[in-house]
Amino acid sequence: MAVHHRLCETVPDYLHSRYAMERRTRDLVATGCMMREKRLLFRIQVVVHVLYHHSNEQINAAQVRSQIQVLNRDFRLKNGNRRSIPRPWRGLAADAGLEFELASVDPAGQPTKGITYHKTDRQSFGTGDSIKNPESGGVAPWDTRHYLNIWVAPLTGGLLGYAQFPGGPEATDGVVISHTAFGLRGTTVAPFHRGRTATHEIGHYLNLYHLWGDMLDCGGTDHCCDTPTQRTPNYGKPSFPNISCDNGPHGDMFMNYMDYSDDEVMALFTEAQAARIVATMTGPRASLDPAPAPLP
Ligand code: ARG
Ligand code: ZN
Ligand code: CA
Repeated sequence: MAVHHRLCETVPDYLHSRYAMERRTRDLVATGCMMREKRLLFRIQVVVHVLYHHSNEQINAAQVRSQIQVLNRDFRLKNGNRRSIPRPWRGLAADAGLEFELASVDPAGQPTKGITYHKTDRQSFGTGDSIKNPESGGVAPWDTRHYLNIWVAPLTGGLLGYAQFPGGPEATDGVVISHTAFGLRGTTVAPFHRGRTATHEIGHYLNLYHLWGDMLDCGGTDHCCDTPTQRTPNYGKPSFPNISCDNGPHGDMFMNYMDYSDDEVMALFTEAQAARIVATMTGPRASLDPAPAPLP
């Protein structure tokens, strides 16, 4: 949200473009873009930029690939922990219909493994987007219309990751993830060692909001009618039901990817969240996959 507010204050068209997107998203969701027979499978080309100061931060390709595998499970409802979703919400768990693959062709048309490595003078990065700018020790994105850019590096102050919503500047579009929370094994540190930070941040990149709507005292909304209104973020491993904002008997959906619970707790996007994702993939981010296949 710090990035969102900075863009509101500094990029003239940002707010207008966010409002236009929100209006279209609401229309689509209201007219049933999620009808099962119309579901689509979108393929997203990913490039991962690894920035390291110390050599131990130079994560290997296996760790990068493990993150892609987590994304391919979470966004297709193939995650191993989906059976931990409490019974009342099992029917809401959605296959968002996204497939991620490391880019095999770079912007110049050359073969690539979809991973770039850069040694940097910076010890760590914050939410100020210096990681995306070569003049401040960062790396510029590949064409953000065609690739999902993921920057991986040490981040400051316990930050696990951050994202830019659709509608922001191309030069800073994408998501940033700490090397301690990216993929499986390697440099990951529990309880953020199951790759769910990238799932969460890509949720924002595809226009999802936090479940508590980033407001205090139950006044916020994530614009999804099937996620209960909740008072605050949940941390750690809450037990079900965890009630706030008169949302009983089932309480907060703390196992949703857009809450702040531990990685092993997170287990679903809902149908309404998937509808917002589809609206984004057919709207502001359609250039990532202009010709989606029908969902088999
Ligand atoms: N932007 C959030 C943070 O840095 C991401 C939280 C992700 N949560 C998780 N369990 N992986 O705190
Ligand atoms: Zn978030
Ligand atoms: Ca909601």
